[in-house]
Amino acid sequence: MLEKTVIPGPSSQLLGLRLARYLKSNVVPIEFKTFPDGERYIRIKEEPKNCHAVVVQSTLPPDPNQSIIELCFILETLKEMGVEKITAVIPYFAYARQDKKFLPGEAVSGKIVCNIIQNAGADEVITVDIHSKRMLENFKIPIRDVSAIPQLGEYLNNFKLTDPLIISPDEGAIERARNLAVFMDAEYVTFTKSRDKHTGEIEIKIKEIDVANRDVVIVDDIISTGGTMASAAEIAKSQGAARIYATCTHAVLVGDSRFKILNAGANEIIGTDTVPSDVSIVSVAPIIAEALK
Ligand code: R5P
Repeated sequence: MLEKTVIPGPSSQLLGLRLARYLKSNVVPIEFKTFPDGERYIRIKEEPKNCHAVVVQSTLPPDPNQSIIELCFILETLKEMGVEKITAVIPYFAYARQDKKFLPGEAVSGKIVCNIIQNAGADEVITVDIHSKRMLENFKIPIRDVSAIPQLGEYLNNFKLTDPLIISPDEGAIERARNLAVFMDAEYVTFTKSRDKHTGEIEIKIKEIDVANRDVVIVDDIISTGGTMASAAEIAKSQGAARIYATCTHAVLVGDSRFKILNAGANEIIGTDTVPSDVSIVSVAPIIAEALK
C-alpha cells in the first residue's frame, strides 16, 4: 500500500497537520504568497515520491475563489510530479448551496467547481457535511462525504444538558438534527424556513415547542450571515428555553453574525475546524483520518 503524505493547503494548515498526526504520516509543506498584482504563487516544497498525497484545503471566505485556484495549482503540480494517487480533502466546500438553478439563467456554480477540481487531477474527493448531497453526483471520481455530527455530539455531551431538545432550523438540516439527537439520546424538532430568492431574506415558521426550562441545541451545516441561527435562537428563547447552543459544522460567520446569534439568546457558538476561527472547538481530523484508512 502507498504511504500517505499530507499536504496542508494554505487555507487548512492546522487541520492538515492535525490530520497528519492522526494518520502518523509525512507532511509536505507548501510555500504560498500573493504577487503585487493579486496573482497567487504556490510551490510544493518537497517532491512527494511513491505516495498517496492527501491535499487538505477548505474553500474559505472572504475569497473562496482563491482557495479553489490554490487547490487546483496544488493538484495539477502533484500530477506533474508523478504522484501515484491524490485525494483532495475539501472540508468546507464553497458553492455547494448553488447546486441547481433557482432562477432562470443562473450559473450552477457548485457543479462547475466540481468539474474544475476533478479536471485539475484529484483521483478522489472527501468533503465534510457538504450542504447538498446532490453536489456529490457531479463527480465522476470516487467521493465521500463524512459527518462531524458524532464529534459535535461528543463535545456537547460534556455539558450535561438538561432534557435537551435538538432543533433543526430548517428542513434541510433535519437529518443532522436526527443524527445528533440519536447520538445525544435526545428529542428533536424541525422548524420550517423559507428564503426569498431575490433578497435572501428568511422567514422561520414554527408551531409551539415544548422547550420551557430545557437546554436547546440548534444544529445546522453552515452559519453564514447568522440570520437562520439567530431567528431559531430567538424563537427558542421566547418559548422559555434555558441554555441555547448554536452548533454547526462550518462556522463561516460573516459580518456581525456572532453578535446577531448571541444577542438573539444563544449562550455559545460551536463550530469545527473546517473553517478555522475562535469557535472551531471541535476538530474533524479524526473523522477524515478514519475515512482515509
Ligand atoms: C441553508 O439552507 C443552510 O443550511 C444554512 O441554514 C444557511 O446557509 C445559513 O445561512 P445564514 O447564516 O446566512 O442564515
